[in-house]
Order: sequence, then C-alpha cells, then structure tokens
Amino acid sequence: MPGTSRMPVSLRNSLNVKKGSSSSQLLSLNIDLFRNIIFFLFLLRWTRKGLLKLKGRGVFGTILDAYISIRRTLYGYFLRAPGVRSQVQKQVNEAITKLQGKLVPSGPGVTKYVNLPKDGWTEEAVLKELEALATMDHTRWEDGYVSGAVYHGGDSLMKLQTEAFGKFTVANPIHPDVFPGVRKMEAEIVAMVLAMFNAPPGAAGVTTSGGTESILMACLSARQKAYAERGVTEPEMILPDTAHTAFRKAGEYFGIKIHLVSCPAPSYQVHIPSVSRLINSNTVLLVGSAPNFPHGIIDDISALSRLALKRNIPLHVDCCLGSFLVPFLDKAGFETELFDFRLKGVTSISCDTHKYGFAPKGNSTVLYRTSALRTYQYFISPDWSGGVYASPSIAGSRPGALIAGCWASLMNVGETGYIEACHTIVGAAKKIIGAIQENPGLNSDLQIMGRPLVSVVAFTSKTLNTYDIADAMSAKGWHLNALQSPPAIHVAVTLPIAKVWEKLVADLEAVVEAEKEKERVRVAEGKGAKGKAMGDSAALYGVAGSLPNKSVVVDLAAGFLDTLYKV
Ligand SMILES: *Cc1c(COP(=O)(O)O)cnc(C)c1O
Ligand SMILES: *[C@@H]1O[C@H](CO)[C@@H](O)[C@H](O)[C@H]1NC(C)=O
Ligand SMILES: *[C@@H]1O[C@H](CO)[C@@H](O)[C@H](O)[C@H]1NC(C)=O
Repeated sequence: MPGTSRMPVSLRNSLNVKKGSSSSQLLSLNIDLFRNIIFFLFLLRWTRKGLLKLKGRGVFGTILDAYISIRRTLYGYFLRAPGVRSQVQKQVNEAITKLQGKLVPSGPGVTKYVNLPKDGWTEEAVLKELEALATMDHTRWEDGYVSGAVYHGGDSLMKLQTEAFGKFTVANPIHPDVFPGVRKMEAEIVAMVLAMFNAPPGAAGVTTSGGTESILMACLSARQKAYAERGVTEPEMILPDTAHTAFRKAGEYFGIKIHLVSCPAPSYQVHIPSVSRLINSNTVLLVGSAPNFPHGIIDDISALSRLALKRNIPLHVDCCLGSFLVPFLDKAGFETELFDFRLKGVTSISCDTHKYGFAPKGNSTVLYRTSALRTYQYFISPDWSGGVYASPSIAGSRPGALIAGCWASLMNVGETGYIEACHTIVGAAKKIIGAIQENPGLNSDLQIMGRPLVSVVAFTSKTLNTYDIADAMSAKGWHLNALQSPPAIHVAVTLPIAKVWEKLVADLEAVVEAEKEKERVRVAEGKGAKGKAMGDSAALYGVAGSLPNKSVVVDLAAGFLDTLYKV
C-alpha cells in the first residue's frame, strides 16, 4: 500500500517537475517568440517606412532630406553651445526690444488702461478714445500703400456693413430658433458661394471664421473620412510647398503628416509627378491652390484632379485668396483655367468671403462635393450633462452680426459688382506685370515669377538684393510682402492699390535705380556687401533665414507674438 501510495507521489512529483520545466521552457519559448514577433513587426514597420520614403522622394531626395536634417540638428546644437547661445539670445532680445519700440506706444503722452475703470465712461468719452485709436499713426492702407490685408469694397459698402452689424449685435447662430434671420442668411451665403464654384447637386458647405478655419475643417474632414472608410491611423497629406501655412497648422493640430512638394520655375506650379510618387495607403488628402499666396500662381488643378480620381483620394482646392476673383475671371474677360467642382476630382474648396468678397473680416466658407464629406467635420456630443451638443466647426457661439455683414455685402455688390471689381483689380495686376516686363528701368533687373492670372504679382531680382528693394519700398511707405526660398517680393492688388498702381511702379523704378547706383559705388570702391546699413527684411530673411537651423527666427517670431499682448 505504501508502495503504491509512494509511486503515485513520485510519479506525481516527477510529472510535476516535468510539467514545471516544460511550462517554464514553454514560457521562455513564448517570450522568445513574442520578442521575435515584436522585432519582426518593428523591422517591418521601419522597412515599410523606409521604402515609402524611397518611393516618395527617390534615392537622391532621401539622401538630401537626411543631409538637411542632420545639418539642421547639428547647427541647432551649435546655436545652443555656451557662448554662442548667450550671443544669439542677446541679439534676439535686442531685435524684440526694437520691435516693441515700434509697435507698443509709450512715453509721457500715452495713457495705458490695465484695470477696469471704476465707473464706466460716458458714451462721448468712449467714442472720443475710439476715434483716437482708429487714427493712430499707421501704414496708409486707405491710400493703397498696403499689399493685401485690407480687401476694401468702398466707403458706402462699409457703412452698410456697420448698419448690418447694428441690427444683429446680439445674434448668435448657435440658437437658430432665437435668431431665424441669421440662420437663413448663413444658409443663403453658402448656397450663393456653392453656385459660384459650379457645385453639383448634393454639394454642401459651412461658414467659418476665416480661411484658416476653412482649411483646418477640410483637412479634418479628409482625415476622419480616411479613418472611417479605410481605418487610416497615420494620416498623411501632400501639399505644394507654396500652399498656405494653414495646412501645416492642420497637420500640427490634427496629427497629419505633411509632405511638401516643390513648385519649380518657370511655372512655379506644383510638380505633379512628385505628388504622384508620394501617394501611399496613408494619404488622406491632396492639395492645390487657386491661386497660392506667395506667387499668385494657380496650380495645375486639372492634373491634380485626374490624379485624385485615379488614386481615389480627396482633393482640396484653396481658393481663399482667389475667393470672388477666380470665379469671375472669365466674365471679366481675362484668361482663366478650370479649378472648381467642374473638375470631377475636386472634393472640397475653401473660399474667403472676407477677402475679395469684401465681407467684414472673420468670414469664410468651406464647400464640399457631398454632404457626407461635410458631416465628417461636425462635432457632436450626445451625452454631455449640458445637453446634446452639436456644432459644425471650431467655434461654439458665433457672432451673428458678421453673418449679417457678409450677407449684406454679397447682396449689395452682386455679380455685376464682383465682375467689375475683378476687372479693376486683375486689370491693375496685369498693368504692374506689364510695367515690370517692359519698362526699361525695371525689365533688366526684376523678373516676374511664373504667369500669375489673378491679383498677386511676385517678382525677384537676379542682379540686386531683393530684400534691399523690399526695405527701400517700406521706407517709401509701401507695405509689400517679402517672400523666401527663393527671395522675392509680392503685391496682392486690392481696390485701394488699383487706384495707385502707377505710383507703385514709379516708386519701384526709383528704388531699383537707387539700388543699382549703390551697387555701382560698391563695385567701384571694391567693397564687399559688408559695411552697409541693413533693413529689417534683409536681416530677417537674408541673414537669419539663411541659417541651416531657423530656431533664431522661431525665437524672434515668438517674441513678436508676445509683443502683441504688451500694453
Ligand atoms: C489668406 C489666405 C488663406 C487663409 O487665411 P486667413 O487669414 O485665415 O483668412 C488661405 N490661403 C490663401 C492662399 C490665402 O491667401
Ligand atoms: C534646431 O535644432 C534643434 C536640435 O539641434 C532642433 O530640436 C530644432 O527643432 C531645430 N529648429 C529648427 C527651427 O529647425
Ligand atoms: C462670419 O464670421 C462669423 C464669426 O466668425 C461666423 O460665425 C460666420 O459663420 C461667418 N459667416 C460667413 C458667411 O462667412
């Protein structure tokens, strides 16, 4: 009995031992297997990334990207090295202090309000102060000295807008039952803009606070669509490098990886074969501009549309700037290209009513080929303790007054008015182009970039320093835009500029002549570029901008933003 009882025990023991060792063997085997699988997946993931990169950018492009990135990182460390860092910081602080001196008024004559007044001011006092604020010393946009910025529709339109605001000061479209008029106007604005862009039946849109929000929403919609329909969790989009920065903002805000494609001379349109190569299963959106901000060039939207259709990927066309000009080029008698919903691959369009639609600032629209695309940008929260909440775009409460101002502008200007404005504005742009290409004082030193068809004219110089020209124009009171990579200047023609285009050309001729004279003196005296006073754009874009790592520019720009909130 004991034997039999011992047997099973030892058997049990040996079994146990065996079971224990085999299970620990199994466990270590499993861990090994698990480790191998993880390693394999890791390898697969990075190999795939590497191959996609090679496919997208080619061997040369990939090496170039790696070189730029290494150079940037190393230079970043150099800038942070002791000694260098304090010098750089000192220079940045000096520049910011100088900027503050310019932007923030100070001195004995300036009263600053940093606390609520104990008792409210009288109406007269408020109005008097407002008048003083409105007439503070500024760059004269009223006289046409400012490129873009103020897309002015004339004095009587401004009066009408103010009256429209007055009637809807308290209105908020988040309560459509309380403000039915605002809801009606908003829906009508979207319908009118859809019609301007030849939207097919079933198309839809929303109004937003500006071009940036319109672009953010179009990118969000594309990302959500790709996630819902294809399970894309690492979204990517492909942009011309001239596309508005709002797309890069969308990339940062919504975690969408950005691929930039160059827009080479002479057309300065996005290079379509490069776009095509970058498309992969993570691509959620292609982008084209009509026209872009830097050079005023319309990308080859027809080719992008064909590509989008072939690869079945949404295509956004940024008409924020083109707004109420591109749709009317044809009717105003100018050359144009197809850019809107007539191209079957175009799935969304952003159009700023607050640019050449002459609506008050804070107004834009984003249009979609189908209402399903629009639904992807909605935010709906069914279970909030505050009640079911639904909002179409970023803002919650929105100013109904602006919608009224926008509606009043569209209705007051009307199609004929916009065609006329297009005629005046694009006409002036063509005259500026003509002068730069034909006037003997300009045509040997300035070159127009590409073939601009709308309101923006960009030019560069091979013989003179472009940023010195920009600074000299600023000294004459003009507020033109300095561009980078490559260095250039642009003028976005508006109605106020159209009135004074001849003065612009004359001042440009004087500036070019003066710069040429300086160049001659410099050569005659055998001096290098050193020893001359440097203007702001020359410093920002010429010096700081040419560094391999632009962290100095980032610091300067952050300082600029801080300055905006200094009392
Ligand atoms: C102005 C502009 C936008 C949008 O800018 P907002 O200032 O946000 O209205 C987008 N794209 C282009 C090409 C623009 O010129
Ligand atoms: C500069 O370099 C540092 C690291 O060396 C990097 O973290 C940073 O992003 C770079 N900045 C820019 C603007 O390139
Ligand atoms: C105008 O701007 C307001 C405020 O940003 C916004 O709520 C509204 O939708 C805009 N309307 C149009 C037509 O752009």
